[in-house]
Amino acid sequence: MQRIRSLFASLLIVAFILPLGMLAAPVTDVRAKNGMVASQHELASEIGVDIMRKGGNAVDAAIAVGLALAVVYPEAGNIGGGGFMLVRTKAGEFHAIDYREMAPGAATRDMFVDKDGKLIVGEGSSTVGYRASGVPGTLAGFELAFKKYGSKKVTWQQIVEPARLLAQNGYILSKRLADLFIGYRDTLERYPESKRIFLRDGNYFKEGDRLVQPELARVLGRVGRLGAADFYRGETAKLIAADMKANGGLITLEDLKNYVAKERKPLRGSYRGHDIVTMPPPSSGGLVMFQTLNILEAYDMPKMAQNSAVRYHLLIEASRRAFADRAEYAADPDFADVPAEQLISKSYANTRRATIDTKKASSSLDIKFGDVTKREPMETTHYTVADKDGNVVSNTYTINDLYGSRVTIKGTGILMNDEMDDLAARPGKPNLFGLVQGERNKVEPRKRPLSSMTPTIVMRKDGSFWFALGARGGPRIISAVMQSVMNVIDHNMDIIDAINAPRVHHQWLPDSFIAESSGISPDTTNILVSMGHKLGSTGHVATATGIMRDENGYWIGAIDKRSDGVAVGY
Ligand code: DON
Repeated sequence: MQRIRSLFASLLIVAFILPLGMLAAPVTDVRAKNGMVASQHELASEIGVDIMRKGGNAVDAAIAVGLALAVVYPEAGNIGGGGFMLVRTKAGEFHAIDYREMAPGAATRDMFVDKDGKLIVGEGSSTVGYRASGVPGTLAGFELAFKKYGSKKVTWQQIVEPARLLAQNGYILSKRLADLFIGYRDTLERYPESKRIFLRDGNYFKEGDRLVQPELARVLGRVGRLGAADFYRGETAKLIAADMKANGGLITLEDLKNYVAKERKPLRGSYRGHDIVTMPPPSSGGLVMFQTLNILEAYDMPKMAQNSAVRYHLLIEASRRAFADRAEYAADPDFADVPAEQLISKSYANTRRATIDTKKASSSLDIKFGDVTKREPMETTHYTVADKDGNVVSNTYTINDLYGSRVTIKGTGILMNDEMDDLAARPGKPNLFGLVQGERNKVEPRKRPLSSMTPTIVMRKDGSFWFALGARGGPRIISAVMQSVMNVIDHNMDIIDAINAPRVHHQWLPDSFIAESSGISPDTTNILVSMGHKLGSTGHVATATGIMRDENGYWIGAIDKRSDGVAVGY
């Protein structure tokens, strides 16, 4: 259920010492005049609002939310991972900050395959253990965002301090979080610090227990005083490098020192007259979204019922083609030639659309990547923050799988990512998400793994800000973001309905579609199957969060009903 809290600063203090259910803030509605944070944890959203109340802008608040989620949402919130931050300033300028992890300097193309050419499983693999991690980018990205786009009205230490306090004083675990630790115990218990901190050495947490993270609090204390330098060159860097070395990991002090967060040119496209801005490569999210939207734009999508087989058929066919291109072309642009402009051009979409039969499914075996040589002239957890001046931040960051590599670095409480799995451990073979990726995305030193994270901002036809959103869920992120955008533009939904509406997903390979069982009726699925589509699973297609600005200038916060989280406005 959607809840918005009218918040008084003092409640923040109360939040640290009382279980969530005992918070006394009155629940009002989903609209707020000044600012809004929509994130997957109530305490993080409240912290963001508190920073804005102190004079900070949306960027300052977004950093505070990200650091708080690293404490209260350890499955995905992080300082041991990376992500993308998209900023729209009150003046209408866009900035895209790439703080994706980078492969360690000693990474090699075949590091995840054994001598028989088979993928290594367990410790040493691209998904679990010390070698699964790329060099984290979160703190470098946050510091860059703070220095360039922060308000300068709150200090870095003021922004870090609420997260430090949450780690030091602890917070009360919801049923979902307590159960989730147990759900992941098989791998978490392999790593002593993860077992001690998150599994309480086998004395598993229950709903209502308090999780205290003193090591993480110490790291955040240093980061608050010394900045990201502590993580990349100071005490924390030494602890990470030492634990990596002792356990066969590749990340060295040198790798940490060499990490760079980068500003990239935001990727721009449009759908039915609305400008849309999102993340460029190394995310594939924008490429796939724009290509799919461009293909679909020529059909009369608004006339088709949102939840109809005819609409889902076209969505699947367009996605299949865009994901086939993703597998071939998308990668870190610092390493590979990624023909982004061609892939998102309207004319390229025309050639891709020409192969779609509106009555019959195609087979992914017959769909290959397209020809982009004819040049035109010329994708965890997501949260969104908006402030009283109209600055907006759309931020998705991740440690990849839930609890990342499951490794917690000794002496730090930092859970590390397994983002190396987003590089192609074996080009041409499926990864954790069943995604097939090509040579361009092979493992190379200092390379950023290809991502599906899609923090996105959509404008009204007059160019003013309309809504911002993003999602978690691997490649399904792209489908969730794109279909939510279409639900607003084509079907006049507000952001809450748009995000909650049912959706489908098809990623070319495996050649099957996911139809959400809550919302898509078996009749609809049967029609799709009769058209030749193959039904895969019926689980969730990612979970999204976002904020919309209504005609009266009010912010509307939206949290996907498929997941947890709370939007807080003021
Ligand atoms: O960057 C990516 O595309 C993935 N590492 C995102 C992982 C993700 O969304 C996991 N979510 N539940």
